[in-house]
Amino acid sequence: MKLSIKNRTAPLAKTDLLCVLGTEGKAVVLPRGVKVPPLAVKAFDGEFREARLTDAIGGPAARVLMIGLGKKDDASAERVRRAAALCAKKGEKVRAASATLWFDAAVEALAGGAASCAQAAAEGVLMGVHSAALFKSEKKGPYLSRVALVGGGAAFKKGAKKGETLGRANCFARRLQDTPGNLMRPRDMVREARKLAAGSARITCKALDEKAMARMGMGSLLSVSRGSREPAYLIHLIYRPRRKSRKRVCIVGKGLTFDAGGISIKPSAKMDEMKYDMSGGAAILGVFHALAGLDLAMEVHGLVPTSENLPDGAANKPGDLVTAMNGKTIEVLNTDAEGRLILADALCYAVKVVKPRAIVDLATLTGAVVVALGHELSGVMGNDVELQDALVESGERTGELVWKLPLLDAHKRHMQGRVGDLRNINNGQGAGSISGAAFLSNFVGDVPWAHLDIAGAAWGADDRDYQGGPVGTGVGVRLLAHWLESL
Ligand code: BES
Ligand code: MN
Ligand code: ZN
Repeated sequence: MKLSIKNRTAPLAKTDLLCVLGTEGKAVVLPRGVKVPPLAVKAFDGEFREARLTDAIGGPAARVLMIGLGKKDDASAERVRRAAALCAKKGEKVRAASATLWFDAAVEALAGGAASCAQAAAEGVLMGVHSAALFKSEKKGPYLSRVALVGGGAAFKKGAKKGETLGRANCFARRLQDTPGNLMRPRDMVREARKLAAGSARITCKALDEKAMARMGMGSLLSVSRGSREPAYLIHLIYRPRRKSRKRVCIVGKGLTFDAGGISIKPSAKMDEMKYDMSGGAAILGVFHALAGLDLAMEVHGLVPTSENLPDGAANKPGDLVTAMNGKTIEVLNTDAEGRLILADALCYAVKVVKPRAIVDLATLTGAVVVALGHELSGVMGNDVELQDALVESGERTGELVWKLPLLDAHKRHMQGRVGDLRNINNGQGAGSISGAAFLSNFVGDVPWAHLDIAGAAWGADDRDYQGGPVGTGVGVRLLAHWLESL
């Protein structure tokens, strides 16, 4: 889909579908020259998600769609994002080839200004038409090939450009997520990462293979891939800003392209969902997709340890002892707690090789976070309150909500091993998600670090018009991009 951005002062161009937004208790404003039956305008109440479609009786638009933002005080960028998604979906449904979303100044103000409004609109349109039906032999749509966003001035244009970058990056991550495990293997993650680097002069990509990882002493990560025929990789992406910067941060994403649990095998019900166990990695690649278009002023390193976790004669057995890159020994008491095993070495690598001023990791780490928070939020834990607060704030600004969970010394004590330094699960002391973070805390040294458990938010979220249902959400892309920009 091609997205264009236009100024309100220019005359409205011909379009199949014109979309305008309105709030409750106020007559909706239409661009000059657009004529619709008066009754259609009267019948529109402006309730949130109300969508009223009418044929125009004059002017450049064939049809007009009015979408409600609800009460004035409840209108927000998030609601504009949803309204824009509704508009794009409706356009698709009525097989419009072109659509125009037109914003008056009052609506821009309600969404936090022209820039914020335009960004939300662009994100909403692109995310709204995204489809997870990647491999249907008969393609239905997309029909909507041109969308114009019309608003006020330079700020609107800038916001829309940013929203386009983020919306496309989100859809890219979702495509990686939704691709089944036989087609999105560790090597396919590497291929996608290399493509990102090939497409941008600011991004480079290196993929450590198993030999290179063995040389670095990544015994924890390699113990997971030993049970699979697919070799593991540690993807290392670097974004370098136009002007050299001393600020350097590292983001890390769990890239399990399929998690059967290993010898501690999972039940078969819903095991197919474990293709989504690379969602953290998909988010990292998505962030780099966005970085190619954001002109960020700091150096960003992205790490994706990627592997499968399968049962096999060579796989980890419960009780096996493995040694991570920092020399710590780990008792693998449950082979299904594999995410932390591959992240452990990726975090060691971040500390030792990247030497960043902050690390944020994203992982579909525990089913327990789905129990605690459901699918609408991610849990955040770590060793630095300010960093966690910043992520909570970015969550509120992007709609990718984040909730803080505690991480106590007691939780860390529960992870001490009997024959080795650590155990990869605690001894039945509960706190499933926190115990994952407690384990990971052993591999970050004293670098400020936050761990986002995205096991709930990565797929299966409620329908929010621009995302939702039993498919990937691309969570983390817009969240981390916002956080990086806030630094
Ligand atoms: N990838 C899973 C976590 C998961 C489970 C995500 C369900 C989404 C839905 C992870 O590798 C895992 O298996 N975790 C175990 C940890 C346990 C063995 C301590 C879990 O959550 O059951
Ligand atoms: Mn697992
Ligand atoms: Zn897993």
